[in-house]
Amino acid sequence: MVSEAQKTTTDVTPDGIFQIALGFMAAKHLFVASEIDLFGQLASGPITLDALARRTGVSARTVRISVDAMVALGLVERNGNQYWNAPAAAKYLSGQGAADLRPILRFWNRISYPTWVHLEEAIRSGQAPNRQGGGFSEADQRIFSEGIGAFAAVPAEVLAVTCDFSKHRRLLDLGGGVGSFLLPVLRRHAGLQGTLFELPGAAAVARLHLDREPEGKRVEVVAGDFFKDPIPTGHDAIIIANVVHLFSPEHNRALFRGARAAATPETRLLIVDMLTDPTHTQPVFAALAAGEYLLIAGEGDVYSKEELSEWLVDTGWQPLGATPLTGPTTLLVAEAK
Ligand SMILES: C[S@@+](CC[C@H](N)C(=O)[O-])C[C@H]1O[C@@H](n2cnc3c(N)ncnc32)[C@H](O)[C@@H]1O
Repeated sequence: MVSEAQKTTTDVTPDGIFQIALGFMAAKHLFVASEIDLFGQLASGPITLDALARRTGVSARTVRISVDAMVALGLVERNGNQYWNAPAAAKYLSGQGAADLRPILRFWNRISYPTWVHLEEAIRSGQAPNRQGGGFSEADQRIFSEGIGAFAAVPAEVLAVTCDFSKHRRLLDLGGGVGSFLLPVLRRHAGLQGTLFELPGAAAVARLHLDREPEGKRVEVVAGDFFKDPIPTGHDAIIIANVVHLFSPEHNRALFRGARAAATPETRLLIVDMLTDPTHTQPVFAALAAGEYLLIAGEGDVYSKEELSEWLVDTGWQPLGATPLTGPTTLLVAEAK
């Protein structure tokens, strides 16, 4: 006869717990594989381990550990001693596919991962231990801005086709990063002028990035802090993308109020973020990312569209509705009341 204790151990296995707990190993293996350009070197088709070692400049003994971990995770395929990229790696991690997600992996590896060591402290104290009193170094600012830019590229393309920008003339992007959201819209609307408002360090990276694109000439970069400095006026559309999650509800209300003061009665406000359901538990990506936002900004979190709508109404905006963009990213549109 099977005892109650035995039944429990067979019915409910610890596999799910192990899978979650080992997630940090999978993540770090992926970051390292990308840093040694494993996916870039596999882009040309099947190659042997020795060839991969030569191309990456890593010993065969250790590149095997890296590439076999990628096979185990489904990002590389293997037949005997031959390795090649699986479809997702070929498309997003080889540098030769439709999109390049390597900069966001670098951001997670070099900025996020070391920060997550402090999660326990942050959860206990409610503060971001290693961010107090300091912004990014110039090198880290670049990794941050370019990483977020890569992450935002796909939702930004979707926003540019989802929203009708044809009647707009001047588009302001508050906390606009490297211009990931402005560029795809400007590419489709030759008459549109853009303003990118950013903190000084990020504004400098944005200017470099925008100068490489023809549409970048139609973007004025304004350096400032939207809580302290005047928000540029005269825009009939304002984007706030992936910014709300950095701040407390009080700061977000202040940001929406500031944007409303800078708006005209015709201005549309487009908020793009990883919005959750009212319980903050779905989508999973967002529920986990709340830890990242707490660590990066000290007061960040994820929010639901209901919460954002309440802050909008309180600050002079009328929410018009929410539309999913891609993955966990949602667009919330409001108009001036
Ligand atoms: C997560 S990034 C999003 C960048 C861009 N909107 C995107 O989605 O690609 C948040 C941006 O907000 C900017 N930011 C944060 N606090 C700010 C402030 N007080 N004033 C202006 N920009 C700010 C940061 O420098 C950063 O580039």
